[in-house]
Parts: sequence; structure tokens; C-alpha cells
Amino acid sequence: MSTPTQATPLSTFAATPLSELTTERPASLRVLYRHRIDFCCKGARSVADACAHRGLDVAQLAAEIDAVEASLHSPPTRWDTAPLGVLMDHIIARHHRPLDEELPRLQALAEKVARVHGERFPELLPTLRDTVIAIRADVVPHMLKEERILFPWLRSERRGQATAPIAVMRADHAHLGALLDRLADLTGGFTPPEAACTSWRALYAGLADLDEDLRTHVHLENNVLFPRALSETTSDAA
Ligand SMILES: [Fe+2]
Ligand SMILES: [Fe+2]
Repeated sequence: MSTPTQATPLSTFAATPLSELTTERPASLRVLYRHRIDFCCKGARSVADACAHRGLDVAQLAAEIDAVEASLHSPPTRWDTAPLGVLMDHIIARHHRPLDEELPRLQALAEKVARVHGERFPELLPTLRDTVIAIRADVVPHMLKEERILFPWLRSERRGQATAPIAVMRADHAHLGALLDRLADLTGGFTPPEAACTSWRALYAGLADLDEDLRTHVHLENNVLFPRALSETTSDAA
């Protein structure tokens, strides 16, 4: 699937795995996210299967991605061609470090909203708080493992032997993906109820950003970094 425009036959587009689509056409991430298509943990699924699962028309999805690409002033970064070291630096700076502050902030907000409104919404807010706490408890040690063990390994010449730790990271990602799905279901796609106060609205806005950020983050690792690291044996990771 090398021709990323309307020139691509629809049947070829439909058969493309999501991992390949999102890697070769990064502008598709936004469109898939909007339709709640799981591109980070189910990248092996074809566009046709993903559309069938969500009740979407393949031709319409193709048109939406073409439209986003046509609207861009400059093409998005192609992380499948950047040096692996630059990709890992990007993941740490853009996706890991901001979470050091954002996860505690969101947990404090979720605790506050549950404390103030939990009695009126006992089915929702305590569970939402616990899910935010579970996400933080998953993500913080996961990032540490990547930064202290896996990424240094992938920067070395031995990167092709990192099959076992990569499998562990993929399993972590799948668990995180399930927590994110629960978050989206609990919040009705991050839509606050009419009666929501300012803190509640701020919590949902922050969780929506967190969801998109984490899914993009996991996509870069599952679909780009890990397969490239296991297949590249040159000193490309500099
Ligand atoms: Fe990461
Ligand atoms: Fe990760």
C-alpha cells in the first residue's frame, strides 16, 4: 500500500492492516481515533474488518483520510523512516515525560469529583476514579521498564534479540487498552452530563486527551518501534 491517495484501489485499501495504514499514512490516526477504531492494540486487523466491526463504510473512511491529508500544510512525520534512536527520544519527550504531571493531576481531579458527587452517581464516579488510578498504576512502571531496560537495549546492536521484553510490553499495552476502553465506555465517549460541574468537565476533557495520547503512544511502539527494532540489525539506532 505505497500510494497514499485516491489513486489507491479501494480493494487494496480495504485489505491493508491498520498497523500499515497508520504507519505509512500518519494522518489516518486522527480519523481512526474519531471513529473509535482500535489501531494501537489491534493493528493486525484489516481496514475492512475494522470498518465492519464499527459499522463504517470503507469508501467513506478512505475519503475522510484523503480529506485530512489534503488539508495538511506539511506532511506528518514518518516515524517508519526516522532513525530508531530519534523515534525513542520522541516517544520519551512527547509521550512519557508529560505523563509525570498529567497522571497525578487527573487522579486528583477524579478523586475530587468522586468525593463531591459520588453519592449522587455511585455507579459511575467511584468506578471512574478507580479506573484512572489503575491506569496510572499500569503506566508509570511500564514507562520505567521501557526507559531503563527496553529502550537502551533497542539502541544497542542486540536489539534483534529483544523478543521477550517486547512481548511483555505488548501484553502491558493490551491491558492498558482494555482500561482505556472501560474509561471511554464509562464516560460515554468523554461526554459530561448536563449537570457536570467545572471540575467534572475538566476531568473529562483531560481524560479525552489522555486517551488519544496513550493510543498514539502505544501505536508508535507496537506498530513502528517494536517491529522495526526486531527486523533491523544495522547501527540505525544511533
Ligand atoms: Fe512508552
Ligand atoms: Fe509502552
